[in-house]
Amino acid sequence: MLTIGPGPDPYFAYKIHHVERAKTAWILSEEFGLYEALRDGPTTIAQVSQRIGLQNRPTAVLLAANACLGILGTEDDRYYIYDVMREMVLEGGRARTVPKTPDPEKDWWYRIMKQALRTNVPVPEALPDWLTNPQGNEDTTAFAPSRHGWRILWGQALAEAVDFSPFRTVADLGGATGGVLVGLTERYPHLQGIVVDLPYSQKTAEAAVRQSKAQERVRFHAADFFSDPFPAGIDVFFMSHVIHDWDAEHCVQLLRRCHQALPVGSPVLVQEYLLNEDKTAGLIAVFQWFGLMYGTIGDQRTGPEIEALMVESGFSETECRPLDHEQGIVIGWKR
Ligand SMILES: C[S@@+](CC[C@H](N)C(=O)[O-])C[C@H]1O[C@@H](n2cnc3c(N)ncnc32)[C@H](O)[C@@H]1O
Repeated sequence: MLTIGPGPDPYFAYKIHHVERAKTAWILSEEFGLYEALRDGPTTIAQVSQRIGLQNRPTAVLLAANACLGILGTEDDRYYIYDVMREMVLEGGRARTVPKTPDPEKDWWYRIMKQALRTNVPVPEALPDWLTNPQGNEDTTAFAPSRHGWRILWGQALAEAVDFSPFRTVADLGGATGGVLVGLTERYPHLQGIVVDLPYSQKTAEAAVRQSKAQERVRFHAADFFSDPFPAGIDVFFMSHVIHDWDAEHCVQLLRRCHQALPVGSPVLVQEYLLNEDKTAGLIAVFQWFGLMYGTIGDQRTGPEIEALMVESGFSETECRPLDHEQGIVIGWKR
């Protein structure tokens, strides 16, 4: 449900940002005929997908968005419109409420999302830097500095969720500014951290890490995590919001590389906004997922879906743990 509860809530800014995405999801649900496709009662994702002419991935996102908005409910893998909401979203309903259609020339977000959902392909003009300019330019910066601060908080939460005392070297694949390793190694000063990311983010990461004492423990290694060798001696691989950027094939490729590089007894850790088992979720996870549509081939996933990718990649023991009130950690152990 779309709720903003009592604090403290470090996700407040994300939530406000995602309300804008929620509005677009409502508009596009109307335009694609999602509500009429559910008129006759509980319907599976595949059936809705067929009725509205979108592929399964964008259909699943739109349905989850509407469940989050309190318009749809779920039962046994089927979505239905709550009785009271039928009056609001179906044609002829007594409280029929229709969103205003934005001008696509003026509303970038609406135009891009409409194209992304319709085609199920990332939109060329909205691709992230790591696809369009992985080497970077003189003035390239990776993400806003505030994200570095958030990552430090995540690193501190990670230190609470997992015991790092048996390990020595942690690699954060796609670690961007290195904030997670700053937060983590502040709590475990014996650890060495290596941020593995593309060259475009090196300068920003090094500048960000230099702001803290962690600079003695955290270094940047410029590499493509799909093809370049990993630095030697890593005994934990960590990834935050990286697995969700890729389809299953790429995820297995990456997780397999981690499995091959790890010593026996070591883990891979995947941090994500996890979906519930029926693919619904709260505001942050759902609208993060929605945002993946325009710039990636990825998917937001449930914990068991990520565990299955780990098993396919060679990890024999897996588990899910909460990280904070929005995110989870999926762990795969090499045995
Ligand atoms: C969605 S961001 C996540 C950043 C950070 N881990 C976080 O949670 O905020 C994905 C990160 O993966 C990096 N990335 C994408 N493709 C990569 C590749 N082939 N090799 C190394 N890093 C890559 C990007 O540069 C970016 O920093």
